[in-house]
Amino acid sequence: MRILLLGSGGREHALAWKLSQSVWTNPLFIAPGNPGTARIGNNVDLDINDFAAVGKFCLFENIELVIVGPEEPLVNGIYDYFKGHEELAKIHFIGPSKAGAQLEGSKGFAKAFMSRHGIPTAAYREFTIDNYEEGVEYLQNHTLPVVLKADGLAAGKGVVICLNHVEAVAEFELMIQRSKFGDASKKVVVEDFLTGIELSVFVLTDGNSYLTLPEAKDYKRIGEGDKGLMTGGMGAVSPVPFATSDFMKKVDDRVIKPTVEGLRRENIEYTGFIFIGLINVGGEPYVIEYNCRMGDPETEVVIPRLENDLVGLCIAASKKELHKTTIQTDPRAAATVVAVSHGYPGPIEKGYEITGLEDNYGKQSMVFQAGTTARDGKIITNGGRVFTVTSFGSDLTEAVNTSLDVLGYIGFDGMYFRNDIGYEFMTDTEIAGEEE
Ligand code: GLY
Repeated sequence: MRILLLGSGGREHALAWKLSQSVWTNPLFIAPGNPGTARIGNNVDLDINDFAAVGKFCLFENIELVIVGPEEPLVNGIYDYFKGHEELAKIHFIGPSKAGAQLEGSKGFAKAFMSRHGIPTAAYREFTIDNYEEGVEYLQNHTLPVVLKADGLAAGKGVVICLNHVEAVAEFELMIQRSKFGDASKKVVVEDFLTGIELSVFVLTDGNSYLTLPEAKDYKRIGEGDKGLMTGGMGAVSPVPFATSDFMKKVDDRVIKPTVEGLRRENIEYTGFIFIGLINVGGEPYVIEYNCRMGDPETEVVIPRLENDLVGLCIAASKKELHKTTIQTDPRAAATVVAVSHGYPGPIEKGYEITGLEDNYGKQSMVFQAGTTARDGKIITNGGRVFTVTSFGSDLTEAVNTSLDVLGYIGFDGMYFRNDIGYEFMTDTEIAGEEE
């Protein structure tokens, strides 16, 4: 089967790695890909938001399956573009319609959807310039902390947790009056702050039925102990010990089923991944956010634990036959640790050579590239999150420690990573690098 995967990050390298293992895959194209994906498929220099160019490539190469990695083309309507062109409409397509992608593209849409379908989430109100003064008054009387979310896509930066009222009103003004996140913050969702531990749940749906993939937890802060600035993600683990079968049954009954059923009832076409960001509040699941794609770096632990053939799952989803299959999961734990450039998530310098970079380090570890590029036969840094090392282990401690060992072989100027990924779940109190 001739496959095109869109995207270029660690998530797409992990998806490409899995797709390349399928007997059905021949050939695999990745647009635009990265030097890691170039070793397992054919990178194609395409702008993935130029739908006409993507469509033309698909027709020229007789592509039979398209899988969309990142949210932007989905929110911009790539699914609708393909379904609106007769020759492209026949291609199996993994990714929701523009209407479905609103689950991620508009926080206000997602909150209203949850409210319509009785899905547990924090109480909220939404404001624009039209009810700005009301918003200020609402914030001044809100319990603290209070959460402000830019309605639209803001490259993962649109959520601000404010600890006092002055900060909250200032942030509100920046978002609405001064377009802090451009058009994305013309509307702001103000939410109650929920206290608990977060969990990422991934669902593949064909619009009628669905399969739940292995769950994961990511670590968003730059500093150890979950301190400092928010990032795109500094590491992830799977499984998540508090995601017991009792808890996951609540997630299934109260969140996943009503989400898939709600999309179906509202005639929103959705064939693809739903990433549900949850918080466990005293044993009860609440939805923090939906995303219309897989998570990054969660994919780098979820996909290695998935034993099913990924091409088979995608085709089953496209044919609305997911009810005929079940998910098979590798019982081993997996952990991924992300190596980032000095200064990330602020300004960074690029262009440093990465030494010691191999595709895998024994059967238990894999490297997934993200912000890298090739120059003069060398792999050099080209972004904030540069690569991630995923390892299997008999438990999370072993998986994390193995990834940290592998990171000891790889280097570039200014490389930084967290030593404490999975710290809450360690089987002993020692974390690698801190042992005597
Ligand atoms: N790890 C969070 C995300 O992919 O949005």
